[in-house]
Amino acid sequence: MIGRLNHVAIAVPDLAAATANYRDVLGAKVSAPKDLPEHGVRVVFVELPNTKIEFLEPLGHDSFIQKFLDDNPAGGIHHLSYEVEDILKAREQLKASGKRILGDGEPKIGAHGTPILFLHPKDFNGCLVEIEEVAKEPKS
Ligand code: CO
Repeated sequence: MIGRLNHVAIAVPDLAAATANYRDVLGAKVSAPKDLPEHGVRVVFVELPNTKIEFLEPLGHDSFIQKFLDDNPAGGIHHLSYEVEDILKAREQLKASGKRILGDGEPKIGAHGTPILFLHPKDFNGCLVEIEEVAKEPKS
């Protein structure tokens, strides 16, 4: 079921500072900030050779990222995103194994325009896990 690590999401209190740090100190390729009001976040994508890092800054007052930062003021790893080929099939397998799907259990369109679901951290060693359906890259 599980495929590649698509991204590691890090909640940050200051998106510009986090972006500058990765760009100027680590020499990473970073995107422009993007507002996703429907998710209550402003995001920056950091492209690494084998995966992505996603910075999440709260956008709006009831952002779930704000709640995370209240507990972790310096920021911290918020979730890991694993690719799956078929998100509904993956969901049914997970449910059959007794794993809890967060929210209403229906896939939402995430920051990358792909369907995502979140799994309960208590079912995965204290890590919030996102699964993301990513179209298979055409074989070249
Ligand atoms: Co994510």
